[in-house]
Parts: sequence; C-alpha cells; structure tokens
Amino acid sequence: MNQASAQARKAALVFGGSRGIGAAIVDRLATDGFAVAFTYVSSADKAKTLVDRIAEQGGQALAIQADSADPAAIRNAVAQAVERFGDIDVTVVNAGVFRMGTIDAVSLEDLDLMLNVNVRGVYLSIQATVPRLKPGARVITIGSNVALHTRTPGASVYQLTKTALAGMVKGVALDLAPRGITVNNIQPGPTETDMTAGALDMLAGMNPLKRVAKPGEIAGLVAYLAGDEAGYVTGASLTIDGGFTL
Ligand SMILES: NC(=O)c1ccc[n+]([C@@H]2O[C@H](COP(=O)([O-])OP(=O)(O)OC[C@H]3O[C@@H](n4cnc5c(N)ncnc54)[C@H](OP(=O)(O)O)[C@@H]3O)[C@@H](O)[C@H]2O)c1
Repeated sequence: MNQASAQARKAALVFGGSRGIGAAIVDRLATDGFAVAFTYVSSADKAKTLVDRIAEQGGQALAIQADSADPAAIRNAVAQAVERFGDIDVTVVNAGVFRMGTIDAVSLEDLDLMLNVNVRGVYLSIQATVPRLKPGARVITIGSNVALHTRTPGASVYQLTKTALAGMVKGVALDLAPRGITVNNIQPGPTETDMTAGALDMLAGMNPLKRVAKPGEIAGLVAYLAGDEAGYVTGASLTIDGGFTL
C-alpha cells in the first residue's frame, strides 16, 4: 500500500503494543481499519511478527522501538508514527510494568521504574501526542482495577501508579474537551498475559466468574472507546474485571 492510501485510513498509535493486552489492542484496531503504529521496548521479534501478520491480513502497522521511560524516545515515536500514517485519531497508552515488593522491601530502582513508565511515561506519551491529535480524537490509558481494590500485599507502588491514571484522565479530559477529544482510562482485572503468568489459577479462583480475562476482551473495550458511539464518554475510568472488585 502506498503512502496516500495508508493516510486514507484512520491512524492509531499504541504505546506498548508488542505483547499481551497491547498486542491485542493493535490487532483489534487494525481489524477495525486503523493504520496502527505501536511502540515496544525490547520485544523486537514479537513486534515484527505482529506487523507482518497485520500486513498479511491487508492492514498497515509500524513497530517503533521507544522506551516509555525516555521522554526523547516518546517524542520520536510520535514523529515516526505521524510521518508514516499522518495525524492521529486514536492513541492508547498501554505500556506498563509491575514489580512486587512490600513497602519494607521495595527497591528505589523498582519504585522509579514503575513511576517512570506507568505514570510519567503515560503523561508524556499523551503530551507528545496532543499537538498531532485530530479534532474529535480519542485518548485511552490502560490502568488497572487495583486502583479500586487490592487483595495482595506487595503491590502498593503499582496500585499508586494505576490510581494516578484515574485522576490524570479527568484533568486531561478537561484540557482537551475544547477540541472535542475524549480521554478515558480502562481498568482491567487479571488478564492472561506474561504479566500474570504463573498466577492464573490463583487469580481465576479469586474471580466471581472463575476465570481471568482474555486480552481480546480488553481490546474490545478499547474498540468501543475508539468508535463512533463513545463520543460522549470522557474523563471516565471503566473497569472490566469480571466482577473481581465487587
Ligand atoms: N495482565 C493483567 O492482568 C493486567 C491487569 C490490569 C492492568 N494491566 C495493565 O495492562 C497493560 C498491559 O499489560 P500486559 O499484561 O499486557 O503486560 P505485558 O504482557 O508485560 O506487556 C507489556 C507491554 O508493554 C510494553 N512495555 C513495557 N515497558 C515498556 C517501556 N518501558 N516502554 C515501552 N513499552 C513498554 C512491552 O514491550 P516489550 O514487549 O518490548 O517488553 C509490552 O508490549 C499494563 O499497563 C498493565 O499494567 C494488566
């Protein structure tokens, strides 16, 4: 497909799209007709496989190596995405990290990593994208249901970072409302990805539906927020956790 026809598609940019929930979001947006640029930090092979699969299915995708802890890399990712696919209709900030540690044991390194990627990186990703968002664009962050409720000791920093997103989207939604841009936060419960590997049976057992989510189920809510019917939803945190936090 040439540059002109790529720019006829709506453009999406997903921060953290090489694996897990992010890869499902990239897949779903591509299926829904978006040209999708996405970032990754270390999974170059998985990123390439995803780009190739989308291309085989007639879609358009671009993988960009960009660490969400690095402000210059974030800005560069936005520039590359816009150069390839044009101004952005939908941006999803999914990149996130989880390190366990009770307050007496959590290291400064893990504290800084989670704050830098899960909070500062999310803010900077949105900020870098804002000048290139089209009128009526959609901004979506991926928080967590731990913002509402945590049953497991050792997650206080992660809980802090994901709670921050629920507040962040309210303020940014007000900032961008004059341009008709909506800003929302999705709060998944336990989902089958590398992040939860090894704990799936335990997490399923704690859930009223006795299972964890599939990444595609979270991507379905992204597709709703990215779609025509969700234009009046903004500043919201939408929890999708099978009743885990009831
Ligand atoms: N899984 C769950 O149960 C669950 C529940 C609630 C919320 N969440 C949230 O959902 C999001 C995705 O989770 P997941 O389970 O899919 O995680 P995952 O399987 O560990 O995948 C994380 C994704 O984020 C990317 N990423 C990580 N650090 C990055 C960085 N510094 N810069 C750029 N990209 C980075 C990874 O890229 P590489 O492949 O290059 O490492 C990968 O694409 C996270 O924000 C997480 O907190 C997950």
